[in-house]
Amino acid sequence: TRRLTVRDIQARKGAEPVVCLTAYSTPMARLLDPHVDLLLVGDSLGMVLYGLPTTLGVTLEMMIAHGQAVVRGSTRALVVVDMPFGSVQESPALAFRNAARVLAETGAAAVKIEGGREMAETIAFLAARGVPVMGHVGLRPQMVHAMGGFRAQGRGDAEAEALVEDACAVAEAGAFAMVVEGTVVDVATRVTKTVPVPTIGIGASVACDGQVLVTEDVLGLFPDFTPRFVRRYADLAVPIEDAAAAYAADVRARRFPGPEHIFAAK
Ligand code: KIV
Ligand code: NA
Repeated sequence: TRRLTVRDIQARKGAEPVVCLTAYSTPMARLLDPHVDLLLVGDSLGMVLYGLPTTLGVTLEMMIAHGQAVVRGSTRALVVVDMPFGSVQESPALAFRNAARVLAETGAAAVKIEGGREMAETIAFLAARGVPVMGHVGLRPQMVHAMGGFRAQGRGDAEAEALVEDACAVAEAGAFAMVVEGTVVDVATRVTKTVPVPTIGIGASVACDGQVLVTEDVLGLFPDFTPRFVRRYADLAVPIEDAAAAYAADVRARRFPGPEHIFAAK
């Protein structure tokens, strides 16, 4: 089986839903790859893996290292790597230089850029020069300070209109698909009906052409906080804690290692 391409994803519009999950490592990519169409190396890794308070501290080097790991662990899914804060906003030329590094050094086939109308020129610049771009409109975590926190976008007529205009600008600039994050059903529906490329929703209702979630949320690895838009399909924090506790008890009681774990003498 060959790897899905940006054209395969684009062709899903109006046909089959696009299934997407985040992945940051080779072993997780191996487990998810048979089941998803798209593996997103999200800059959410800053919070999920590194314990950062926001995604703003994520660097291009971090994204490249994790992008390489996910490409190594997958054969079927399209791998898309997030462009981190500061790597694309300054100019189309800088964005191209950084995105070209991501594609060249990871082997991923596309990047994702958060932004609306203000990033359209950059998306067009990259798309025309061989860097497929996935857009990301609606709630944009890299704008946390500008927004004064995280909140759903597109509530009220003015915000709804702005979100639709952002989505149209991103699609016209040549994005092959776009994440739509944190908005109301009506806006997700309008955007999905209006743009000619797949919308991949997160907290954006079933109206979108596909869905994405953070894998660690899906697996229940953050039991203390599960956002409203997440459906938890497993509760892995529990078996991990149980395993650590059982191992600790065995070591303390000298029950591990057992005779079967020992190298035989010559
Ligand atoms: O960083 C990320 O994981 C994302 C998705 C949640 C869309 O951008
Ligand atoms: Na992201």
